[in-house]
This record gives sequence, structure tokens and C-alpha cells, in this order.
Amino acid sequence: MYVDILLGLQWGDEGKGKIVDYLAPKYDIIARFQGGPNAGHTLVIDGEKTVLHTIPSGIMQKGVVNVIGNGVVIDPVTLVKEITTLTAKGIDVKGNLLISKKAHFILPTHKVLDAASEAAKGKSKIGSTLRGISPTYMDKTGRNGLRVGDILNADFQEQYTKVKEKHLHLLKQYDFEFNVEAAEKEWMESIEIIRGFKLVDSEYYLNEALSNGKKILAEGAQGTMLDIDFGTYPYVTSSNTISSGACIGLGVAPTKIREVIGIAKAYCTRVGSGPFPTELDNAMGERIRQIGGEFGATTGRPRRTGWIDLVALKYATMLNGVTQIVITKADILNEFETIDFCTSYNVNGEQTTSIPFDIDRVTIEPVYETVPGWNQDLSPYKDFSALPATVTNYLGLIEKHLGAPVSMLSTGPQREKLIVK
Ligand code: GDP
Ligand code: IMO
Ligand code: MG
Repeated sequence: MYVDILLGLQWGDEGKGKIVDYLAPKYDIIARFQGGPNAGHTLVIDGEKTVLHTIPSGIMQKGVVNVIGNGVVIDPVTLVKEITTLTAKGIDVKGNLLISKKAHFILPTHKVLDAASEAAKGKSKIGSTLRGISPTYMDKTGRNGLRVGDILNADFQEQYTKVKEKHLHLLKQYDFEFNVEAAEKEWMESIEIIRGFKLVDSEYYLNEALSNGKKILAEGAQGTMLDIDFGTYPYVTSSNTISSGACIGLGVAPTKIREVIGIAKAYCTRVGSGPFPTELDNAMGERIRQIGGEFGATTGRPRRTGWIDLVALKYATMLNGVTQIVITKADILNEFETIDFCTSYNVNGEQTTSIPFDIDRVTIEPVYETVPGWNQDLSPYKDFSALPATVTNYLGLIEKHLGAPVSMLSTGPQREKLIVK
């Protein structure tokens, strides 16, 4: 029938996992379209936390099919660990997970290349998650990659060795010590387990499902400001995180897309290096980090924190064609007397509401508007119309600047802590 897309509008970790899990029963299929185990999507169900890196966030809802699309890069070891953890929780992963034959594999040597490249960059490192993402996408576009469907070929081992040899050659340019033997053994064992899963031509599967009246939710990873083309380059990830990436990463046509649901935190965070105009490198930033528990779901690194940035969000709304906005982590601001919004940037004395091309080189002074906070726990509210005026005023400001309606407000990590319009 149609595809809706849910994706992050900031620098990742907006709470995509929680919202996909909530929305999953309204769809037949949840499909990841890009990224890999650099993602960490957190679900909190009946007080129990689950972090998903590769498997779509619909897996905890019964009867929903989950597809890892062709645009995703897969570390077999991480995937098998996820499968094992979920299976132990009683989830039918084998029955409800399909893996695209065209998705690319992250090899142990891709991870070494990622680490060696980061080490060589020194102070200008990207702050990558060291999961091998960039070298794997480089091999994909360089037409050297190893794909999931290749494990069905008789010469898979030779294919693997050829790619590995190329990596070992590349690694000679770095002064970087490594040993992949143990990792390689685990990798091969994981491949054997993956053989037992449904490996499919997912573009056919998804398009047939659409023809048969099924509804698909495409789940983004990372966020718009980490997009390889439109993010804060070079401090970005290596895939297209924006809505058009869903068409490429799943093989569905743009005419099949219905809603684009964009998610943003009530404030802003970033993990890793790179520009962050509204960053609060002060006590207020630390307060947000502590109350918000802002430490990475994948790497455990402290996240950088700051006020919500409507310039970046407006850019993200434009790039994605956002039709509805979800604001998460509103509860983190429950005790704030006032809340700041960045509504424009001052770049070299000039005010602008556009993202400068050289965002990583210029000094940006954010221009703020301040509104009163709500100063109360919002979780008892179940209805948008009953929300205090301070909250509707706050949401109204976001809607006015972005030109799209807010459809959900998340007030806690738990599945049920959500106010839906
Ligand atoms: P994702 O990568 O976009 O799925 O987000 P992460 O899981 O990396 O990070 C979001 C974090 O915030 C996780 O720890 C979630 O459990 C948590 N979370 C999501 N929504 C809310 C919310 O509304 N309030 C609070 N306090 N935590 C939330
Ligand atoms: P989810 O899906 C936040 C960041 C890294 C680094 C940059 C490049 O959980 O929102 P990479 O390993 O992709 O080469 O790292 O991108 N990054 C993320 N930040 N959330 C993520 O995913 C991220 N995935 C990558 O910190 O700055
Ligand atoms: Mg995350």
C-alpha cells in the first residue's frame, strides 16, 4: 500500500527506536534502509531495556516482519549477538527477520581500517564508532564489497580472502598494530549461523508486499545532520540518512512514500567530533547530559549537549520533506525555568537561517529566543488538548519555524510514555 519513513532530524540518538517500537503494530513490515551497527536504538518495554544495532526496532512486536534492507552494512558478529539476546528473551527472530542478499558485510579488517584511519587523523578524527562503517561503504562504492548473498556461492571463502588481502595491503600505509585472527574465527562462525536465516531479494519482497496492500515503516539510523551529502561534512557517517535514502536502501520508488516522520529531541546532542552550533560546553550542558542520561547507546561515550537548533531542524525538514514531527525527551526539561531555542545564526556579523557550506570552518554564534518552561511532570497528560499552555506554546514555536505539525510528544523512555495527537 505505502511506505512511511521515520528518521532522525538531528545528529542521531533522537529516540527513533522507541517510536518505531510504538508504531510497529500499525504496520506489516519494519525495514532498516541504511547504516549499520554504528546505530544503537533503545527500547524500554515492561521496565526492560533492549538496544538494537542492526535488527529493526519492530522485532519486539509480535507478528511484524522486520527487514534488513540492501542499504544496510552488517557485522555478522553483532547481528548474531543481537539474535541470541532477543531469542533468549523469547522473541521469534528466525520467523520474523529477513535479510537482503544485497546488504554488504563488514569484515574484521574493515574495523581495523576504520581504527587505523581514525588514529592517523589525530586531532581531526571524525570520532567514528569504530564499527568499520566507512571502509565498508568505501568498498561498496569501490565495487569490492562482499554481500550477504555471496555466502551462498561456492567460492565465498576465496571472495573473502581477496577482499581481506586488499585490506592488508592498504593497512601497510598505517603504522597500526592489529591481529584479526580471533575476530576472523568468530566472524566465520557467525556467517554459518546467518546461513540459517531468510536471505532474500528484499526489493522484490517489499514491492510485492506493497502490491498486496501491506504497510511498511522504513526506520532510519543516525540523523540528517550526519548525512554523507547534506550533513556537517566531513564529520558525518557514510550513508544517506535522509528520506530519499529509504528509496535507495530498500528499492522502493519515491511514489510509494506517504508520510515522513521526523524525530527531534527537545534539546540537541551530538556524539563524536564536528560542528555543533548550539553546544553548551558549560554547567547547563552538563545539567542536560546528567538529567538526560546522555551517554552513547553503542559506545558509551558522553554525548555533547546543547539547546534545540531550529536552523538545523528547518534544513532537515526541507531535505526530508517532513510531514510530521515527533519531539522526544521533553521530560528532561521538566525542571527548567526557561528553555532556549536557536532561531538563527550569526556568521561573521551576518544573521542567517541557512546552514553555511563551511560550517566546520566558520564561527557560528547562535541567536536564541527564550520561552518559559512547563516546570512539571508531563507523564500524567494523555491528550494533546489538555497540555499546559507553556507546552503548547513551546510546540507551536517549533511548528511555526519548521512548517510541519508535531504529532507526538515523548515524556519518558518507556513504550507507553507518549502523548499522541
Ligand atoms: P535512537 O538511536 O534514535 O534510537 O536513540 P538512542 O536509543 O540512541 O537514544 C535515545 C535515549 O533516550 C535512549 O536511552 C532512550 O531509552 C531514551 N529515550 C527515548 N525517548 C525518551 C523520552 O521521551 N524521555 C527520556 N527520558 N528518554 C527517552
Ligand atoms: P543512531 O542510529 C549518533 C556518529 C559517530 C561519528 C560519526 C561517524 O543510534 O542514532 P561512523 O561510525 O558512522 O563512521 O561515525 O557519526 N554516529 C552516530 N551518532 N547516533 C548514531 O546512530 C550514530 N552513528 C554514527 O559518533 O561522529
Ligand atoms: Mg542511538
